Amino acid sequence: MSQDKAKFISFEGGEGAGKTTQIKFLGEALRHAGYEVVIAREPGGTPDAELVREIVLDGEPGRWTAKEEMLLMYTARSQLVRTVIGPALERGAWVLCDRFADSTMVYQGYAGGVSLETIQALHKLVLGDFNPDITFIMDIAPDSGMARVHSRAEVLNQFERREAKFYEDARHAYLSIAKAEPERCAIINAAQDATSVAVDIVQVIKDRTGIAL
Ligand code: TMP
Repeated sequence: MSQDKAKFISFEGGEGAGKTTQIKFLGEALRHAGYEVVIAREPGGTPDAELVREIVLDGEPGRWTAKEEMLLMYTARSQLVRTVIGPALERGAWVLCDRFADSTMVYQGYAGGVSLETIQALHKLVLGDFNPDITFIMDIAPDSGMARVHSRAEVLNQFERREAKFYEDARHAYLSIAKAEPERCAIINAAQDATSVAVDIVQVIKDRTGIAL
């Protein structure tokens, strides 16, 4: 991976894995090193995609079928890539995204029951071969992650109120994606304290891009 090419980096993992904190850390480190950084989240990241986020995350589990969720996620994703991520990469900015297409594979596919071929076909239709350069799989036991979510005392969204098996399936799915695509994915032990996690992430950036932060 060349040092001067802008990088698209996604952060994936279960609930309470600390993605948002780590994106903030890495964003600050990159800006400090002189790079322009764009931070986005999915679903969301544009005013319209944030509206989609509201309707897909609110309400009760079962409001949408997994296939309907997939369609909503890709509608929001299409606009985010077209209007934010694509232009940012074009002008040489790094893009750090809180979740991306792997989330659809994991939540609507492996854990939700939509066939992986269907999701792959939709991805191809909407985004072609566009994918992150590096994906951090923030791995944590679902019990520990959910304990963090509950301690935040926010209103839980419909994905944070699923059965325990859903989160176990999601964790295994992330690990199998990481195993299948080791060049793109890096598994990070997200059960460590935030500083140790940040050190691991910076090391992966150095190993894969040659950029020392
Ligand atoms: P988050 O803010 O914790 O990332 O919440 C977003 C939720 O949306 C999370 O529970 C995972 C879910 N989600 C999907 O099910 N499919 C997707 O494609 C994306 C991007 C998120």
